[in-house]
Amino acid sequence: MTKTRHHPLAAALALAAMALPFAAHTQTAPKLKVGLMLPYTGTYAALGNAIENGFRLQIAEAGGKVAGREIEFFKVDDESDPSKATDNVNKLVKRDAVDVLVGTVHSGVAMAMAKVAKDSGTLLIVPNAGADMVTGAMCANNIFRSSFSNWQPGYALGEVMAKKGLKNVVTITHKYAAGDESVGGFKEAFEKGGGKVVKVLSLPFPNVEFQALLTEIAATKPDAVYTFFAGGAAVKFVKDYAAAGLKKSIPLYGAGFLTDGTLDAQGADAEGVITSLHYADGLNTPRDNAFRLAYAKTFKLQPDVYAVQGYDAAQMLAIGLNAVKGDVSKKAEIAAALEKAKIDSPRGMFSLSKAHNPVQDLYLRQVVGKENKLVGVASKSLADPARGCKM
Ligand code: PHB
Repeated sequence: MTKTRHHPLAAALALAAMALPFAAHTQTAPKLKVGLMLPYTGTYAALGNAIENGFRLQIAEAGGKVAGREIEFFKVDDESDPSKATDNVNKLVKRDAVDVLVGTVHSGVAMAMAKVAKDSGTLLIVPNAGADMVTGAMCANNIFRSSFSNWQPGYALGEVMAKKGLKNVVTITHKYAAGDESVGGFKEAFEKGGGKVVKVLSLPFPNVEFQALLTEIAATKPDAVYTFFAGGAAVKFVKDYAAAGLKKSIPLYGAGFLTDGTLDAQGADAEGVITSLHYADGLNTPRDNAFRLAYAKTFKLQPDVYAVQGYDAAQMLAIGLNAVKGDVSKKAEIAAALEKAKIDSPRGMFSLSKAHNPVQDLYLRQVVGKENKLVGVASKSLADPARGCKM
């Protein structure tokens, strides 16, 4: 007689495993496909890299998984080019069949992503682009933002500048949704507070030939200048503004992107510039200090607002997916979990509005050396008005 080859317990365990499809399933849970659509070239390349770094840092801190699922990344360089945006996002949605889209920096590209996300039902988390429409007229149950609306920093600084008693301001930006909407928020608050936008200047994205416009600012002699520029363009604008001799006579203000992640390159030309943003250097909270230390150790770089937004996009993904045990098809439950979440961001706690945009403090900052030094809170728990959102 042959010996029993299997311990009787083995058969019992096999039966138990069959009765427990979930236990068997988790061992082979398919990887979560995350589509990163970001600029890795062009004027916003550094921003895209910081977002990816922040995203990966959070995932690493969470043990390399989201809701128990390992991650497979699919990446597209969107070049901040709206004309290629729909094709690019479809590479991720149709070809790669990603479970979630994370992107992007440029508002025009983000609006194309939002359209595809809305039509396909793919979960989208926007880790920067402020296009007001994404959490306005295009708002949807499956679209979320970890960053800001373009309106928010502009509105916050408009209030502060009006209270300072500034009267006549010239605005200057790249001519596209982000610049226009940033100026829109600024103008709304500044004029409500008694100021006047006396001239609206712009140039096409991503041009950086500022000379003619700087000459016009000099001739207009406003009390101050409000600006929206970011990335490589922000570096050049701040340097050109100083080189044109305007820094001494006409104070420069802006949405905080003007000086975030750019100070090493701008050097002394940025000194004293006042901005508003949902992040600052020297917040000195335990949460932010831990984040900054981990980021600096991992990437040998100082974090900036973009790194924070990438980190928080990953936190939001985890909150949403933990609520449904990783089942991305449960869109209503993902939305419900995020709508009631308090997100423990390095920037400070924030929640999401009904339109899924952060309701957050907008800090007032001033450049001192290599820091966007915290001066105070320009606007507490500021919510975007979400104009046109029906949800
Ligand atoms: C945008 O296009 O919405 C945008 C780009 C860069 C920033 C902020 C906003 O730093």
